[in-house]
Amino acid sequence: MLRVLVAFVLCSATSARQYDALSSTCLNAKPISGNVGPVSSAKECEAKCDAQAAAAPGTGQTPCVGVDTNGKTNCYLKSVCGGKAGHCGSSECGYRAVGVAPPAPPPGPLPPIPPAPPGVTLRAAAEKHGLLIGAATNVNGVSKAGPYKTTEQAQYSLTTAENACKVGPIHPREGPNGFDWKGCDEIFAQAEAANQTVRGHNLCWHTENPAWLTKGKHTPAQLRSFLQEHITAVVKHYGERAYCWDVVNEAIEDGRAPAHANSTGLKPSKPWYPAVPDYIDVAFKAAAAARGPGSKVKLFYNDYSADGVNPKSDKVYNLVKGMQERGVPIDGVGLQFHISVQNPPSLDAIAANMARFGKLGLEVHITEMDLKCPEGCSLEAQAHLYADILKVCLAAPTCRSFETWGFTDADTWIGAAQRPLPFDEQYSPKPAVAAMINVLLNASVTQY
Ligand code: XIL
Repeated sequence: MLRVLVAFVLCSATSARQYDALSSTCLNAKPISGNVGPVSSAKECEAKCDAQAAAAPGTGQTPCVGVDTNGKTNCYLKSVCGGKAGHCGSSECGYRAVGVAPPAPPPGPLPPIPPAPPGVTLRAAAEKHGLLIGAATNVNGVSKAGPYKTTEQAQYSLTTAENACKVGPIHPREGPNGFDWKGCDEIFAQAEAANQTVRGHNLCWHTENPAWLTKGKHTPAQLRSFLQEHITAVVKHYGERAYCWDVVNEAIEDGRAPAHANSTGLKPSKPWYPAVPDYIDVAFKAAAAARGPGSKVKLFYNDYSADGVNPKSDKVYNLVKGMQERGVPIDGVGLQFHISVQNPPSLDAIAANMARFGKLGLEVHITEMDLKCPEGCSLEAQAHLYADILKVCLAAPTCRSFETWGFTDADTWIGAAQRPLPFDEQYSPKPAVAAMINVLLNASVTQY
């Protein structure tokens, strides 16, 4: 088992503890938990939590508080530690670490990254594992000669339109004749010319929608029909050319907090939810009908911050399990992996998450990986993290696709200063590329 690369030690216990950023959980903490409410303010909640933690010595952890800003009266004492202050939203609790965290120990030296054998590309190295390796791309980049197109097509076996196939660009005018296929068609055509597979993204989301849809006044019945019509048209237009579709994107509420008793787990997603309460089922059923019997096109649910086992991925798990129980067709879950080198989920948590979706018979795709590593962050550490997560994917039979959101720091949605992608702003490979190629060339990866 590989070590966790960057372990944050934020607990007040004397021994070092690993901090799982996404679940805000002390991985080796002895849990104390309970609802210490009702309270009338964050301050009162905090005081009660402190008192309760003080009354339970020996748990070796920092007491944290969560104020339920939805119900406003509940106060949770959780077995958490961490320095993330205030994640209060309309539907989640915010945790605050109380007490002084000891300084993190200096990270141990990272093993050097050997150069990759000359001439070996990511796609060639991934091929022998049957793993698709890809990147999100934009129409400008792939439609004209230049380093963007050359690098992307040489290195990757899979592509996803970063924006061109979303509802806004593809369906700019209302009605069945309101489609503009140009950009999305171009992504498919360029990919096919380079012998690449296309991962379709996405058919239903709360953002990147056309103005007629976001600003229009539609009844729930009209919205339901529109959703069905849009999905049917897009899935039929590309047919078997699409390897899969992210049918619904980012529907689950963010959650470091426990789900509220009255929570459906879904976040408000204009215009779909709550107007069309069963919109996820509607979307997947429409996609399944449109792909037709015997189709190879896979239908995915895709979300962020659900990469390791954590409260949000628990809700994703419950969503897809519920869909299966209701007979709603679904083939896989996309884990976006927008994370940072300094605060990654643990590899164990990622592996466990993939395994539980696998047990449901679902595929898992890493769909939008970018590993933030701004000035001061070591690109070697970033390379190790890319390689480690790739190893987790290779060791998980259910993980079939590994994709970054873009590939060059010159063109990333979170800004070049974050240096999140495997190629630098000049399209030169960063240490991450050699690290991943070396992992892929390793004869067999059965353990991460
Ligand atoms: C982002 C694109 O990269 C941006 O260019 C666009 O302005 C907004 O959308 N999760 C997703 C992607 O599923 O579709 C998003 O892409 C990034 C977050």
